[in-house]
Amino acid sequence: MAARAAVWQDAARVPTAVIGVGNRGSYLLEGVLQQPNAKVAVLCDIKPDRLDKAATTAAKDSPRTTTDWHKVIENKEIEAVYIASPPYLHAEMALAAVKAGKHVYCEKPVGLKPAEIKQLVAAAKASKKIFVAGQQLRSLTLLQEAIGKIHDGIIGDIVMVKAQRHATADLPHDGSSGDWYFDVSKGGGYLIEQSVHNLDLCNWVLNAHPTKATGFGAINFYKNQPAGRTIFDCGSIVYEYPGNVQMSFTQNVFHPRLMPAGNQYIHVFGTKGAVDLMYAATMYPINGGAPVVLAEKRAERPHAHIEMFYAAITEGKPAPINAVVGATAALTAVLGHEAMVKQQVVSWSDFGITL
Ligand SMILES: NC(=O)c1ccc[n+]([C@@H]2O[C@H](COP(=O)([O-])OP(=O)(O)OC[C@H]3O[C@@H](n4cnc5c(N)ncnc54)[C@H](O)[C@@H]3O)[C@@H](O)[C@H]2O)c1
Repeated sequence: MAARAAVWQDAARVPTAVIGVGNRGSYLLEGVLQQPNAKVAVLCDIKPDRLDKAATTAAKDSPRTTTDWHKVIENKEIEAVYIASPPYLHAEMALAAVKAGKHVYCEKPVGLKPAEIKQLVAAAKASKKIFVAGQQLRSLTLLQEAIGKIHDGIIGDIVMVKAQRHATADLPHDGSSGDWYFDVSKGGGYLIEQSVHNLDLCNWVLNAHPTKATGFGAINFYKNQPAGRTIFDCGSIVYEYPGNVQMSFTQNVFHPRLMPAGNQYIHVFGTKGAVDLMYAATMYPINGGAPVVLAEKRAERPHAHIEMFYAAITEGKPAPINAVVGATAALTAVLGHEAMVKQQVVSWSDFGITL
């Protein structure tokens, strides 16, 4: 009986593969291993040491390993694929997985180039399978509650957003991502690779994507560090959203830890008051009234986004954080990046993409 039950349980678990088991892929793998409805069947990475480490982590599921991601896509047994390779590979891998009829969880940014993002969204829309973009902040219940109240009108009409993503330092130059992160053609740069999370939250709260962007970026602090560096270490971008709403965004990697106003924030200004959205989710009424907490801090489920992916697969319901959300976030970042590189006003309409 017990053996038959085990076989049945095994059949009910979604055969899953993880492509890229570096820093993020390892974290995702831990999350997958905790899901009762998932089974880690194949692990893929070009670095054998990472593959071995991941295989040890996932030993309870006895996964096979490969260094060739095409084999994962060709494998008919695999139903769900996680893509946690460097950004320049995401769109190609995700497109191949979608076309092969897999459910796909693709890390952010879902792509670096408008043309590949356009192709990916079209394929994901045409597929009957689930596509989840790794914009996991959307699964935080605190933000869902606070943004829900903003959408219900608690601060009136949104007129402006001021946001930033400052860090105290670069990613380690010899760290796990050092072989791609500092090369703009592989990682996309700080705005596209990191700030895509913050930009996605701005899109979410504004319930729109920007129509235009302009800005400047530079390498002012980590000049030629690491050698050959091509990504900016600071930037200032202004986005325009529908209705002339402005979103002003700054990023840097040299904000001293003890200096105030560091780290990340999103301040949303409305006609009835403003909200400090990230971390605090507090509203400050325009008439000077006492601050109102929009959503109390709470312990969040660390793998809620992964749970959402399998719930969508097993219950056959659409995933809320899908290819369109991922593409919108990526394109918002690409728009800002293009503005910094060209030092011009650039328009979303030039992408020729309707999402
Ligand atoms: N959602 C988040 O909060 C979050 C956090 C960190 C990283 N990420 C994203 O996850 C992705 C990976 O970042 P990371 O920090 O894990 O980088 P990493 O360098 O630690 O891991 C990437 C892995 O992909 C492997 N890889 C490279 N080319 C491959 C190929 N052709 N086939 C198979 N594997 C290949 C590398 O060997 C490496 O092990 C990035 O897109 C990053 O933006 C997301």
